[in-house]
Amino acid sequence: MQGGNILSREQLSGDGESGNPKLLTVRDTDKSMNIKRQLTNIFADAFERAGYAAEFGTVIVSDRPDLCQFQCNGALTAAKQRKANPMDVAAAVAGKLTERERGILTVEIARPGFLNISADGALLSARVNTLADDDRLCLPKADAARTIVFDYGGPTIGKPLHVGHLRSAVIGDAMYRIAEFLGHRVISDVHLGDWGLPMGLCIQWIIENGITEFGNDELKIIYPGASAKAKEDAEFAAKAQEVTRELQQGNEQYRAIWLQIRDISVADAKANYDALNVRDFDYWYGESTAQSDVGEVVARLDELGLLKDSGGAKIVELQRDDDKEPMPPIIILKSGGGELYSTTDLAAIIQRERDFAPDEYRYLTDQRQILHFKQVFRTARLAGFSSAEFTHIAFGTVNGADGKPFKTRTGGAMQLSDMLADVREILPDAKVATAAIRIADLQNQPSRDYKFELDKFTAAEGKTGPYLLYTAVRIGSVLMKAAEVGAEAGDYIAPESAKERALVIALDSAGEAILKAFSLNIPSAVCDCLFDIAGKFNEFYAEHRILSERDEVRRASWLRLLSVTRRTLIILLELLGVEVPERM
Ligand code: ARG
Repeated sequence: MQGGNILSREQLSGDGESGNPKLLTVRDTDKSMNIKRQLTNIFADAFERAGYAAEFGTVIVSDRPDLCQFQCNGALTAAKQRKANPMDVAAAVAGKLTERERGILTVEIARPGFLNISADGALLSARVNTLADDDRLCLPKADAARTIVFDYGGPTIGKPLHVGHLRSAVIGDAMYRIAEFLGHRVISDVHLGDWGLPMGLCIQWIIENGITEFGNDELKIIYPGASAKAKEDAEFAAKAQEVTRELQQGNEQYRAIWLQIRDISVADAKANYDALNVRDFDYWYGESTAQSDVGEVVARLDELGLLKDSGGAKIVELQRDDDKEPMPPIIILKSGGGELYSTTDLAAIIQRERDFAPDEYRYLTDQRQILHFKQVFRTARLAGFSSAEFTHIAFGTVNGADGKPFKTRTGGAMQLSDMLADVREILPDAKVATAAIRIADLQNQPSRDYKFELDKFTAAEGKTGPYLLYTAVRIGSVLMKAAEVGAEAGDYIAPESAKERALVIALDSAGEAILKAFSLNIPSAVCDCLFDIAGKFNEFYAEHRILSERDEVRRASWLRLLSVTRRTLIILLELLGVEVPERM
């Protein structure tokens, strides 16, 4: 690929008289415009001038980086619509580029009608220097900050956290960090499961067995014991139901035991979240906190005439004519008067509206709760509890190597603390272990199941957390060595080789990856970008001898490129809750 001249900063700052104002350097335009978007503008105009819709001008990063940096496939679709020859359409569009555009771009037309595009050194240089001068990846804060309630974590007290809770915490935490980075007002609430049957089961077991004192270790046995017993012993199960009901109505003895269970479980959850580097929650509210608003839920639904009697239970019909699938009614009160999981979720909405007036709610649970949230959201809308936007981010299962839900060696459900211990055995450094776990999870789109393979996820090579950390640490140590021998980073990057340019293009996509992660609820977009940057960096690093480079200007440019790369990796990792250690 041809080099193109490297222009000075002054030359790059734009003359304001070019034919296409969008081609002024980024210094004079919107900083958030990465090269891909600048190119999209150019090609949108060219398509229009050639008589086609601007939309065809969308430019993407090339899937054949050996041929070109970017590509535009619009001529193929445009030609199909017009029943024209795509090669002719592509040629017509290329012919509409201005002289200046032709001066800074290499455009080739490839069969069956692709526009293969490469930007010259000056354009890449302008962009990477802008990125280097900006400490937030040229990503402006949102113009209109939104108040967003993130509901994740959601442990059930009394029950130990299992690997399913890993996903809720890790994906939720990443989304929270990403939204905050974009300037939104973020609120996290763990929404403890602390008011349902598991409470009654534990309390009944504790009373029956005369247990007076217990800690986390005992609790780990109490719930499994009680839940197994309830399956075989109908009388025990009925008692636990009754205890749950009485707890909900304020029985003092039960409440005292419940508070103990709650304290122990919250402390345990905090320890697990700490180990995963999940930020402390803004609110440790739960189903029990929502209690005080249950009355209002019932009263308002009743006032609106939405509450129906169904065999003693109170329900709200949700089926609509345009539903393609059956939508069962939501149960608000059981026939005995007890409330349900749905009821407390509606009550929590009343509380959140009053306390936070959010623009948006994002909930994280596994996919088994899809129907539950559809019902809750629909009820909240129907009853006018909230006009905010509701999203349920429903994630898939963490499986073992056998493709079945992750189990311990003895066949029980894998507890989060056991999994953490297994990883720490291989990776004693806490930061590295956390990186291994979080990246193993976050590289998958939330909706997908994935296999947790300990050896694979803890390896130094491949798509792993340790690999990303090694890359960032390696760059740090090159920069340190450079400082020791008095080699300084320059204030100007002029990417010359193909490997350098590929790295610049990868760095330039970081801002967009963050926006994509935020709007589609896929932190995996940030993860993909990290692997792209790390891969491009390692290829660049393998090809260039940085510290022994004799040309000082070139070495200074490389060192600055290294520091932009390191900073970008650190920012993106931080958004995924991963911290880079000093050394490894
Ligand atoms: N405690 C629930 C569970 O373990 C998760 C809570 C999710 N949040 C909510 N508002 N329902 O499945």
